Amino acid sequence: MYKIKITIIGSGNVGAYCASFLAKKDIVNEIILIDVKENISEGKSLDISQMIPLVGSNTKVHGYTNDYSPSINSEIIVITCGIPRKKGMSRDDLVNINGNIISIVVKEVINLSPNAKFIIVSNPLDIMTYVSYIKSNISSSRIVGMAGILDSARYRFFLSKKIGVSPIDIQSLLLGGHGDTMVPLYRYTSVSGIPIKEFISEIDNDQIIYKTRKGGEELVNYLGTSAWFAPSVSIVNMIESILKDSKRIFSCSSFLNGEYGVSDIFLGVPVILGKDGVDKIIELKLNDNEMKLFHKSAKHVKNIIKKLNIK
Ligand code: LAC
Repeated sequence: MYKIKITIIGSGNVGAYCASFLAKKDIVNEIILIDVKENISEGKSLDISQMIPLVGSNTKVHGYTNDYSPSINSEIIVITCGIPRKKGMSRDDLVNINGNIISIVVKEVINLSPNAKFIIVSNPLDIMTYVSYIKSNISSSRIVGMAGILDSARYRFFLSKKIGVSPIDIQSLLLGGHGDTMVPLYRYTSVSGIPIKEFISEIDNDQIIYKTRKGGEELVNYLGTSAWFAPSVSIVNMIESILKDSKRIFSCSSFLNGEYGVSDIFLGVPVILGKDGVDKIIELKLNDNEMKLFHKSAKHVKNIIKKLNIK
């Protein structure tokens, strides 16, 4: 029987919660957790395995310390490793430390799983996705960064509280980089198909956008480290769309080759996510202001790429 194996590199909060949420869904045969920190993957995978009989799943979960060989022939590799930001740090402060870690990891796993799709989660997200692309030397359609789906979930939550509707019924799209330069699209936000302008003015919505931009930081201030519940579920949504070839549309950090007038960087844009990764990048007709914000975000990401100094 054809077995579906998913490897998650980094068994910290995001990696481990992602593994447990994925295991609970019973949609893959095996999950491999790998971390450089001794025994952490072994312990967390054992704990998740002991949860399995209680949730009615058949997924096997195995953990390893600094050994990438068990990841062989993975369908999808999720990269969550690196240093999370601490209070007072921006995601961009991590560029070289995490860049070097991701460079090593990608070079380790790519030969073992030459056909894998990659979901990158480590920060600064758009730059780490770019590093994974450069170091793996595979088609850019097989590499996406997880950010837009998380930022959009935060926006839907804040907006639902403000206007008093269920967050499930809010559809939204956020483009650009994962950080302060993310680009909200008021025009593309709706509640069960009803344009958002029927519920809230653009000016009031801007406050919600501000909260969303600062959403990750708010959590770092509370927790002293990055968030994990919403990020992990966001990753599993992407995994599911790839495995089931559902062709869901999510904003993902994707390689741009002229789309939106931008080239040679990864940035959040709406994509159709299917069995081969990015099936298609959807190019929206942005208005002047939206395009200006998108290009500002692209410039910010390009400037951080210039600071990259990795092996
Ligand atoms: C956040 C991290 C995952 O936004 O970047 O919470």
